[in-house]
Amino acid sequence: MFKKLAIGAAFALALSPAASFAAGAEGHIEDFDFSFEGPFGTWDQNQLQRGLQIYTEVCAACHGLQYVPLRDLEALGYSEEQVIVYAADNFEVFDPELDDFRPAIPTDHFPANTAVGAPDLSLMAKARAGFHGPYGLGINQLVKGMGGAEYIASLLDGYTGKEKEEAGTILYENTAFPGGWISMGPPLSDEQVEFADGHSNSVEHMSEDVAAFLMWAAEPKMMDRKNAGFVGVIFLSVLSVLLYLVNKRIWAPHKGKARKD
Ligand code: HEC
Repeated sequence: MFKKLAIGAAFALALSPAASFAAGAEGHIEDFDFSFEGPFGTWDQNQLQRGLQIYTEVCAACHGLQYVPLRDLEALGYSEEQVIVYAADNFEVFDPELDDFRPAIPTDHFPANTAVGAPDLSLMAKARAGFHGPYGLGINQLVKGMGGAEYIASLLDGYTGKEKEEAGTILYENTAFPGGWISMGPPLSDEQVEFADGHSNSVEHMSEDVAAFLMWAAEPKMMDRKNAGFVGVIFLSVLSVLLYLVNKRIWAPHKGKARKD
């Protein structure tokens, strides 16, 4: 029995590197430094605003964000009026009551977009993991995080410029995309978006900004979750100390006494 197990384990070990290779070359994911990482990380509101601008001006042409309510944008530091103007200026939604399209209002969601078959981006930052392994153990994710935002930023910044045609579709070489070829053309180019605060608009910086925005879209309550976790840890630490002291006290009269029988 043990021998069989040992042989099985040896086989599994010998095969696993080969197997992960065969599954298609993993893309190269850069470990960007996002402000929201780590137990005390917080959103960089200016970065989220730039990311929203990039999404609106570039990505929204093909990608929907249908699970994100427009009113949530107030969390990025916009006033109610600004959100009303933003919604009306940028999006139209179908209203079944009017049986027609009308300008979006804050209680609507961002519209879906299925025009070119591009996936919805609402949950993309949670749906992808930038870091894996080693050997399926997940230790990298423990150390570096899941890497959803890193994956998106690396993807947008990972085009090599090479393209090829396969079965009538043009594919673009990308160092982050698993398999190496993606059907989305490079969406960003240097200086494509002008920021009001004059922030750098290189492809690399814009990739980071829009990836941070998509992380917020996928998990808008991340900071609340971290705070709740932190309070929980403090509470449990205090409780542990109290329980230890109570335990000591309860048993103190009986400690060190010889048994009578
Ligand atoms: C011209 C249309 C178009 C534009 C503009 C565009 N995309 Fe895409 N995108 C696509 C298509 C099509 C796919 C599906 C590609 C595939 O699976 O080969 C895709 C896929 C993706 C994916 C998923 C990759 C994966 O792992 O499956 C992400 C993330 C993404 N796009 C992000 C963006 C962001 C961010 C922007 C804006 C900066 C953007 N896209 C702009 C068409 C577009």
